Formats: sequence, C-alpha cells, structure tokens
Amino acid sequence: MSHKRTLVTCALPYANGPVHIGHLAGAYIPGDIFVRYLRMRGEDVVFICGSDEHGVPITIKAREEGVTPQDIVDRYHKIMKDAFSGLGINFDIYSRTSSKVHAQNASEFFRKLYDQDDFITKESEQLYDSEAGMFLTDRLIEGTCPKCGNPRAYGDQCEKCGSTLSPEELLDPKSRLSGSTPVKKKTKHWYLPLDRYEPWLRDWILEQHKEWKTNVYGQCKSWLDGGLQPRAVTRDLEWGVPVPVEGAEGKVLYVWFDAPIGYISNTKELLPESWEKWWKDKDTRLVHFIGKDNIVFHCIVFPSMLKAYGDYVLPDNVPSNEFLNLEGDKISTSRGWAVWVDEYERDFPGQEDVLRYVLTANAPETKDNDFTWKDFQSRNNSELLALFGNFVNRAVVLTHKYFGGAVPENLKPEAIDAETLAAVKPCREALEKYIETYHFREALKEAMNIARIGNKYISDMEPWKVAKEDMDRTASILYTCLQLCANLAIAFEPFTPFSAEKLRGILRVGIDAGRDYRAGEGTPTENFFTPAEGKALHCHSEQSEESLVLNWSMLAATELLPSGHQLGEAVLLFRKIEDSEVEAQIARLDAIKAAREAAEAEKAAKEAAHKVDAQKAEVSFEQFGAMDIRTATVLEAERVPKTDKLLKLTIDTGLDKRTIVSGIAEYYSPEEMIGKQICILANLAPRVIRGIESKGMILMAKQGDGKMRFITPQEAVANGAQIG
Ligand code: MF3
Ligand code: ZN
Repeated sequence: MSHKRTLVTCALPYANGPVHIGHLAGAYIPGDIFVRYLRMRGEDVVFICGSDEHGVPITIKAREEGVTPQDIVDRYHKIMKDAFSGLGINFDIYSRTSSKVHAQNASEFFRKLYDQDDFITKESEQLYDSEAGMFLTDRLIEGTCPKCGNPRAYGDQCEKCGSTLSPEELLDPKSRLSGSTPVKKKTKHWYLPLDRYEPWLRDWILEQHKEWKTNVYGQCKSWLDGGLQPRAVTRDLEWGVPVPVEGAEGKVLYVWFDAPIGYISNTKELLPESWEKWWKDKDTRLVHFIGKDNIVFHCIVFPSMLKAYGDYVLPDNVPSNEFLNLEGDKISTSRGWAVWVDEYERDFPGQEDVLRYVLTANAPETKDNDFTWKDFQSRNNSELLALFGNFVNRAVVLTHKYFGGAVPENLKPEAIDAETLAAVKPCREALEKYIETYHFREALKEAMNIARIGNKYISDMEPWKVAKEDMDRTASILYTCLQLCANLAIAFEPFTPFSAEKLRGILRVGIDAGRDYRAGEGTPTENFFTPAEGKALHCHSEQSEESLVLNWSMLAATELLPSGHQLGEAVLLFRKIEDSEVEAQIARLDAIKAAREAAEAEKAAKEAAHKVDAQKAEVSFEQFGAMDIRTATVLEAERVPKTDKLLKLTIDTGLDKRTIVSGIAEYYSPEEMIGKQICILANLAPRVIRGIESKGMILMAKQGDGKMRFITPQEAVANGAQIG
C-alpha cells in the first residue's frame, strides 16, 4: 500500500515504575529503529509517545505511599522521559495522559460516540467498599484463592497458581483499600459493544491483514473466534478523565479507553495546526509498536473505537514482540527482577548503544527470549568491538600512519576491492526488506555483515604488511576500507546512533537523518521531546560545517569519501566489557534472587505453621476415659545411637521409673529435656524401638509445619497426677 506519511506510536507506558529492558526490547527500540530508518529515507514521519498516567495500579501505589496519584505520575513521567532520551529513542513528543489537551480530547471522543449511540449501558451489582466510599475494581479485592488456597489472591487473578478468577469466587474477600468486607451495590456503566464490530474486524484483520506478524495475527484470530463481548469503558474511580455525560458522577473513562486516544492527543499537542492530516488523511500509514500484552487493545478495541468515531485512519500494522526474560526468569518490577535503564546508565555510562544492540540482536521477535549478562558481554566484545570497532580502528589508524589521515588515492585497484564494495549492496537490500517487514533482528545482522565484510577484507589484505613494499597498493586497500567505514556510518544509524555519530566524527562527515517534528508548531510545551544533555539526536544534516553529508540513498555506494578528504582523530567506537563488570551484575541479580527465595521460604513456613489439621472422628467418653494420661519428670536423657530423631528418656511417673523412646531429638537436645516436667500416655502398649523397650508416649503438640513442642503443666505438679 502506498502512503504519503507514517505516524508511528510506541505504547504509552504506565507511569508507575521505571523503564526496564523488557519495555525497550518489546516496543521502544524497534519503534526507534523504524523511525530513524524512515527519516533517513526522507519519509515524512512523526513519532509519538508519552506516559499512560491513569488506571488503578497508580492509585494503589499512591495510597501505599501516602501521596497523590499526581505525585506518582509526576515522578515517573520524568524518569521515563529521561530514560528514553538517554538511549536516543527519538520521539517527536513524549507527553502524558494527565495533560489538559488529552482530557479534552478523550472527553470529546467519548461524547461523540455517546451522541451517536455507539455505547450500551448496563446496570450491575459490583463490590463496594463502604468504609472507603468506593467501588472496587477486581484488582482492589483480595481474598483466598479457591483453587490453591493462596490467601492473597486478587479479584481477577491468583498470582500464585495463575488462575483467572472473578471476585465472587474468592473466599473471604476483603477490600485492599480499607480491609473491610466489600458489599454489593448497583452501578451503571457504559459499554462498547464489540460484538457489533466483529464481522468487520474479521474481514479487516483476518482477510486484509494477513501480513501482520504471526503472533499478532494469531492472537487476534483467537479473540475473534472466541466471540467478542461488550466491554465496559467506564469505571467507578476518582483518578482519570471524568465521564462527560449526565448521571456519571464519580465515574471516569476506563484507562484502556483513554490511553490510546492519548496517541491522538499527543499528536495534537505537538502539531495543533496539522494533526488531523496525520490521523484522518487516508494517505497516512499508522503503525503501533507494542508489547504482546497490548495486542487485543490495539488490534481490536482501539480500531473499533476509531471505526465508531469515523474518519480516522486505522493501523496499517501493529508490530509486537514477545516477552524478554532476564537470566531465565520472567521480568517483574514488583519482584525487583529487571535491568532498569537508569541503573544501566549509571553502571555503563556511554554504553547506550551496547544495550540497543544486544536488545535488537536478541530481540524476542517470534518467541520469548532471554537476556543474559554473558550474552551482553560476548555480543559487545566479539561483535561490536571485534568486528565493527576493530575494523574501523585499523582502517583509520593505518590511514593516519601512512597517509597523514587523508583518504588515499585509489592508485592500484584490484578486482577484490570492487567485489568487496559490491557485497554491500545485497546487505542493503536485505536490511531494507527486513526493516520494512519489522524484522529488526535480521536487519541488524545485515548491517553487521557489512562490518564483517570489512573486517575480513582488511585481515585478508594485510595492508600493514603490504605497506612494507607497495605503498600504491596500500593506498587502494585503505581507500576501500574507508569507503566501507562510511557505509557503516549510514547503515548503523538506525540501530546504534551514538556510535554511528562517533564514526561520522572520525570520518568528518555529516548525515541527513531526515525531517523531525520536535520543534512542533506554535509554542512548544514542556512535553516536547528534547535530547538529554550532550546527546545529539541527529536530524536534518548534523554537523553542517562538514561539507560531506551522507544519506541513506548513498548506502552501498563505492565512493563516499573522496581521496584527499581529511579524517579526524581515531577514537575507539567500543570498549571491552570486562568479566568483573558482568559478574557484578550477575551478583546483584543473585542477591535479589536469594533474598526473594528466603522471603518466600519464610512466608511458606509461616503459612504451614498456621495450617490446622481437621478434627478427628468422634470418640466416646469411655474411650477417652480409657487413656491413662499423667504427669512425669525426665530424669535422664540420651540420644539413641545411630539415629537422628530418637531420644531415650528415663522418667519418673510417680508410679515407677521407666524408659520411653521418643522421636523428639530434632527439636530438643538431651540436656534440654533433663528435669523437665512432661505429660505422658502411660498405658500405651510397650514397644521395642531399636532394641529398647519403650513404655508409654510423651504428649507433644505438633504444628502444621511438623515442628513439635512437649506439653508441660502450667506450674509444677506432683508426678503421676492424672490428666483428664
Ligand atoms: N500503559 C499500557 C502498558 O504499559 C500501554 C498503553 S498503550 C495505549 O501496558 F495505547 F493505551 F496508549
Ligand atoms: Zn491460586
């Protein structure tokens, strides 16, 4: 399909935690690569993102911390915005759904659908917290899981056994807000009847978008095959965009209704004059980059909203990655299992491109994938450094050594030179094909292939040896190498923009990285996206003092740097990542894991200790009376040889002195037992245990976790006193 402009969005992340590698790999790095590529090709692109600042989790976090939801989102909005700009993720705007423009825009959107009768309303009984004076969403209800007994399951899900639940199924439900027992109360909500859109969605997705990635297409198909139900688009909550109709006091738009409208609002904030062209002109191509947990909202719900509204464009594609795990475990903010961008920047300053590279080279494009620090290290050391960095460094250093840093004349060309340069062309073609079909991992491989070609060429040609006898041939070899370096400066710009920029500094060339809209129209707001200090985001022709400006169409050209062109200083593009650095990261994760396991073990032990066995079958008074239970005192105690569990006790029963063998050695040492008053079942038939005759049994209290304590009279009594 042809298009005149491309509107690219990345999922608006919730403003309730810092950005981690899972977010980056899922949506933000792929989105940025795509946009950088399109801009370099001279396409008209806007790149929209921002914080998603509504929703229940933010209100819960605020309550837990004793601050307002606004405080929470202010804090994280800034952290996230800085994290993205620090990694060179080059949005045109990073705004927020608590903005005024958005409140107005989302309200207007709802109102139009309301006026068109696109909603249905339903009254239902929902759980209400009368102490907090609030309706409770499923997440705000906690109780015991009916499936596994986890006492802290939520109203929608048990995180222990993974079951999907409804609040009614929970045993002993409690409000997470006040701890009180929720009551049922009637409430009215607006629903988007997705079932009305089902036939259209089936045709639009299943017939017309067979090119969507299989994971995306597959999820859509299974939703559609399962049948669509009306979905509530309002909630009883204080935090959010108020529902703009009568009779909706105390209600806000459901976060998944307002957030995607945020894409439109943010475009409007950036381009108040021309935003409509981006959203309503049929020549716009709309592309949403998201993580896989967002697929249904972007492929089914939001398109239905846009369709209902009318005159909006629909997404042309919704590239979505699978999940990235960390060292074999699911990334989880609440369990502290993640690599956060702000911490990465602290531990690896200046190494933004390494993370971008590794997350792309190892992207979970078709299935969940694992980030490991060892892989991080080896991809840096044996790919970025050994192939790309070393090649460039050798070429530039030798040019300085033999030719005073000026690109030499191609004095003595051989066929291999032209063949080598010609090998870039198929890389370019494949790279373009892969990016355009959203296969960034494969695309990056093609860029790396250009470095591989260069590395092999310089290793095979050995200009440092040739220089001893043939300076003309040396000139041609280095000429060829430098042309490859210039090609690398173009090809790597979408993937590793900081290193590409460094390389262009070395080569003293600029780049035309295309048009961006960061200047917006009219007066910029504080949500406009500005690069972090000292971090250029290359657009237009950077370094305009350079007379040589590269652009994408030059990729695979064989004469990018003319002879005589003076190079800059040779600086290293990459540095080695040391064992100690990754070991420190692994140790940090190990400590987190150990702490978590200890906490879990402690919790499990506590829960087990509280488990109480069910009551045994009834006995008669006579049966009980037949038991001869009485007090006694331990006179001697010793371990039974070759056992861990048994103590041999000599006791004074008031009737006699006798021996009892008891399985309490795990809980008491012999010394602890001597002199203690205990209770025994005296008339239990004698048994021989390990060759010792044991007459009677010590009464023990046994906890759910198996731990045993002996029973002792509350104050000393005569030995042989009857218990009953
Ligand atoms: N906040 C959601 C998440 O992090 C994504 C919202 S995307 C939008 O999963 F389309 F709703 F904006
Ligand atoms: Zn459970």
